[in-house]
Amino acid sequence: MSARRVLLVAGARPNFMKVAPIAAALRKRDDLEAVLVHTGQHYDRAMSELFFEQLGIEEPPYRLGVGSGSHAAQTAEIMSRFEPVLGEVRPAAVVVVGDVNSTIAAALVAVKEGTPVAHVEAGLRSFDRTMPEEINRLLTDAISTWLFVTEPSGVENLQREGVDPARVHLVGNVMIDTLLRFRERAAALDVPGTMGLEPGGYAVLTMHRPSNVDDPETLAARLAPVLSLAEEMPVVFPVHPRTRAVLSGAGTGSGGQLRLCDPMGYLEFLGLMSSARLVLTDSGGIQEETTVLGVPCVTLRDNTERPITVTQGTNRLAGTRPDRIRSAISEALTAPSTGRVPDLWDGRAAERIVDVLRLSIDG
Ligand code: UD1
Repeated sequence: MSARRVLLVAGARPNFMKVAPIAAALRKRDDLEAVLVHTGQHYDRAMSELFFEQLGIEEPPYRLGVGSGSHAAQTAEIMSRFEPVLGEVRPAAVVVVGDVNSTIAAALVAVKEGTPVAHVEAGLRSFDRTMPEEINRLLTDAISTWLFVTEPSGVENLQREGVDPARVHLVGNVMIDTLLRFRERAAALDVPGTMGLEPGGYAVLTMHRPSNVDDPETLAARLAPVLSLAEEMPVVFPVHPRTRAVLSGAGTGSGGQLRLCDPMGYLEFLGLMSSARLVLTDSGGIQEETTVLGVPCVTLRDNTERPITVTQGTNRLAGTRPDRIRSAISEALTAPSTGRVPDLWDGRAAERIVDVLRLSIDG
């Protein structure tokens, strides 16, 4: 009997560390075969290839090369380029991860062609439909056969939406599988040392949400409390291309010990975060990673779709008002860190996913 194919879809930076452990878990089985598709939603070396190299992800046999565009143009382009791949591979299942445009685009094509979809990181809800990711999450969950969930809030959200519990599997967090696997390798790079930073003596900032960075005045307002912090300690800010475009036009983003740099590789950024005194972010994944690392995190958003990082982890939801961000920073710097790692964030989520898929894919 030949192995059943599972088509794994990745497109944007936060997808790569989620796909890596699933591909590795599939590779260990001889009854399932992973076939990787890279949509090309992200394409800069530092946003894409570097992650493949560092995480040891095999060269994808399919690269769709879609590039950037409006939501409609990008989503449509992924759909039309993904359709023939699906026809050629004829997989038993398509696995999509996270909440980016590549996630919903591939899922939509697959279900309409009659191929069942597994959504990894299902059930998360910010309850903010102005976020493109929230729309992607809701729609992908609605059409997926298997809903693989990272934290109990995801199970509750899906229950509330009337989803059949048989579709819902609380399996843990594949991004944390990758973090645990690569943590030591990242530490060995001594990134703080190479940047002349004292472990525990600096902060890290990331910001790329459209609602925070697309408008230059809003971006300047978000940066004001960060610049105050940069009077006290170095703040390293690897700048996402979306943010870079606005920063350079607005002439903001300098002062004190604020250090702007290019986007980093996975290992470098993990090493940098691990020894930070504090992380400031509007990313979803970083809220989870800091929780596992035990590093205080201040989230520059009004909501989070990952509430366990606040209730159990090290995350503080600061909102977006400068005074609230300032007080969240000072609380994070003074209060003892009391986070604990959520259940099932133990490095084995991908294996659980593959076990469920194996049982339900008709061999
Ligand atoms: C996307 C995801 C977001 C995720 C983020 C992580 C959607 C709707 N958004 O946002 O959920 O948190 O990735 O990074 O899918 N660009 C480059 N080089 C690249 C990629 C992008 O220069 O390799 C620039 C382009 O100008 C592009 C802009 O960044 O227009 C935005 O890229 P896009 O993929 O549309 O959205 P992100 O903001 O990266």
